[in-house]
Parts: sequence; structure tokens; C-alpha cells
Amino acid sequence: MSDWSPNSWRGKPILQQPTYPDETALNEVLSQLKNYPPLVFAGEVRNLKEQLAKVTRGDAFLLQGGDCAESFSEFHANNIRDTFKVLLQMAVVMTYAGSVPVVKIGRLGGQFAKPRSSDTETQNGVTLDSYRGDIINSVEFSKEARTPDPQRMIKAYNQSAATLNLLRAFASGGMADLHQVHKWNLDFAHQSEVSKKYEELAEHIERSLRFMEACGVTSKTYRTLRETDFYTSHEALLLPYEEAFTRKDSITDEWYNVSAHMVWVGDRTRQLDGAHIEYLRGIKNPVGVKAGPSMDPEELVKLCMKLNPTNEEGKINIIVRMGANKVAEGMPKLVRAIEAEGLNVLWSCDPMHGNTIKSSNNFKTRPVEDVLTEVKQFFQVHKAEGTYAGGIHLEMTGKNVTECIGGSFMITEEDLSSRYHTHCDPRLNADQSLELAFLIADTLKEAHK
Ligand code: PEP
Ligand code: CO
Repeated sequence: MSDWSPNSWRGKPILQQPTYPDETALNEVLSQLKNYPPLVFAGEVRNLKEQLAKVTRGDAFLLQGGDCAESFSEFHANNIRDTFKVLLQMAVVMTYAGSVPVVKIGRLGGQFAKPRSSDTETQNGVTLDSYRGDIINSVEFSKEARTPDPQRMIKAYNQSAATLNLLRAFASGGMADLHQVHKWNLDFAHQSEVSKKYEELAEHIERSLRFMEACGVTSKTYRTLRETDFYTSHEALLLPYEEAFTRKDSITDEWYNVSAHMVWVGDRTRQLDGAHIEYLRGIKNPVGVKAGPSMDPEELVKLCMKLNPTNEEGKINIIVRMGANKVAEGMPKLVRAIEAEGLNVLWSCDPMHGNTIKSSNNFKTRPVEDVLTEVKQFFQVHKAEGTYAGGIHLEMTGKNVTECIGGSFMITEEDLSSRYHTHCDPRLNADQSLELAFLIADTLKEAHK
């Protein structure tokens, strides 16, 4: 790797970046960030990689989820808590009903930068820069708001640090104790069909816990009953920021991105000779690669070889996001190409980004029906190919939003306007997420019989 350095991406073509009006101000911020403490530690990243290696071998399942884009205005302890609770609920459903351990990764604590389909946006004849996420500019439609401001990186770092601090406290301070399984159900969800199903499952778990307690197995004696491992991830899009958090680990002398345990490259910035792949090939973190309908099998193989030349297990996570009507046709050729080369990869399914539509009343939405269909097809393809369907990648929230239509609570197009809060893409709400978890659990149970 003698030709790689944390800034070697600067010599490559790059897409989806803001143009900062004041370069001096930008460089001042970047030098400050280079001195800021890491958000995660290399040892934790290595632990995650071991967990993902287990998933790759078919011995666990990956659950990755959170906001499409975190925002400064929705930064609140309750939002973090509720998303964390739903992820715990989903994980416990899959573990209990599906009988596999679940590795949990949030799209949290740094998921701020967004790729956009157009560099500019026009409203009433006025054209401005597109919104690129709170780490870059602001969503309001004014020249001032849309001008990229480097100080936003400092704010995003501070928000990420506070988010991670709370997540660590939740993961090890009692909230994730299995004895709390009933309390993870969110108040507003109590009447729904799916939350009743969850209550029943929680009842079963509590009964098992009481039995185990009688046998001497308690939260005090077993760490895995009272704590959980929770990791963070985001799209490594804004490379100046990622570079500032690329540090050499003093134990192994290797480079790690210390702003998240795992990072991924988006479907729009995964060019083989582009800046993003150049950056990602030098870090030791697990790396996700989004694969949309335009992904060519040979290109995917080349990407994996470039990002993971030693074919390490747990390093590459291919996140397939084809859309419900394309996955059955588009995915088998990718799977076969990877298998033919004997590459170790974890396959996960992002059933969100290929299923975005405009509702008749002009909301960006996703039909839950299509989300569920894509997940089912993803499992079917892997079954047919004899490969392991290893994970799910979701845009979801613990908030009671109305952003995706359908689901057991039957959110209609008319309902969308009542609680549509996302800054970017529509998220599954708690009920819809849980419904999906039960579906996956059934499929996992079937697969592990
Ligand atoms: C995302 O995950 O928010 C995203 C933009 O995905 P993709 O790159 O797959 O479109
Ligand atoms: Co999104």
C-alpha cells in the first residue's frame, strides 16, 4: 500500500462534493478536526469485523438501520433512544424467532452527508445548490442556507460524539438488558397488531429468563444478558471530513477511519478509479458497497478485489438495492460473479433505495409492500444460488412518522402529510420496521431448519 495515503484520493476524479466558497476557512476547520479525539477505537472496529466474518460464514445476521440523513434540528435524546429501542426489538425478534445472533449497526452518529441526483434545485425560477446534508448546508431554500459552510463539520462531529456517548450508555448501562424486553415496545405502538405479536414474544422471553435465573444464569453473571454490542456507520461521502478522521492505530500501525466502525460507498460514487474507492481501499474498517441496478458483475468483482485484495472475511458488505421489480433478475449475476472468483462477501439487502416513488400528492414515499417484496426476493435468490442472505440495511426510525405507505397500520397517501419529518428519504416507522423483522425471522427460521 505504499502508494496510498489518507489524502491520495485528492488526485482522483471525485463526484458529489460541495464547493466551499472560502478555502482558507475550510482548511482551518480540517486542521482542527485532525486534532479532535476519535469517535470509535480501532479495537472496536476489529471486533465488528470479526462479527461480520461470522455473518459472512452464515452464523449470524446483520441488522443495519437508522435515518436516511441525521439532522441538526431533529437531534434529541428521545429520537436516539427510540431508534435504538426499535433496533433492539427487531434484533430480539430475529434472534428469538429466527434463532440466529444479530449484529447491530446504526446509521447513526455521523450519517449526515447526502449524494443528490442533481447539483442544483430550482423553485419558482430560482436556482440554488441542492441540499447535501446538514454537515454541508441547510435544507431551507435560500442562497445563504444552501451555501456550503465548513463550520457545519464541527457541529456534525459534536453531534456524533454526543450521539455515540448516549448509544454506548444505552448499550451497556441497563437499557439493553434482556430483562427490559417489554420496555422496548414504544408507547404509541401498543395498539397495533404487530406490537401485540411483539408483546407475546417478550412474554416468552421473560419466562425463559425466569427459568434461567432459577438455574443461576442472571444479568449479573452474564454480560450478554445485560449488555449488547452496538456499532455505528455512515456513507463515507464527504472525503475531506473522512480524511481528517483517518488515523494510524498505534497497536497495528494500520490506518482506520475513526469516525464510525463501518463506512460504505454509495451507488453514485463507487467508480473503480474514482476518489471514494481510492480512499476506502486504504482503511482497515469493514466497508459497504451499494449495488444498484446499474452494477456490472465484472465491475463488482474488481471493486471487491481493490477494496479487499487479501480476501479477508468480514471486510466487504455488498448492499444490494435494486428495487422490488429488478432484484430477481439483477442479483443472480452479481452473486454468480462473486462466487466464481471465490470472494468472501457479506450480502445484505437495502429494500429502500430502489423502491422510492412520488405519491399523487407529491410526497417522496415507499410502499411497504415493495419493501417486503424486495426482501423476500433477496432471500429467494440466495436460496436458489446456495449463498447466504446475510443482512438487511434499512432507513427507519423509532418515531411515529408517516413517510412510507402501507404496513399493518395501513398508512395511506392522504396520511403522509400528517407526520412527514424526514430531511431526505422516507423511513419505515416503528410498526413497519417490526413487521419486517417478523418476516425476516420467519425466513431465517426456515433457512436454519
Ligand atoms: C443511502 O443509503 O442513503 C443512499 C443514498 O443510498 P444509495 O447510494 O444506495 O442510493
Ligand atoms: Co436514503
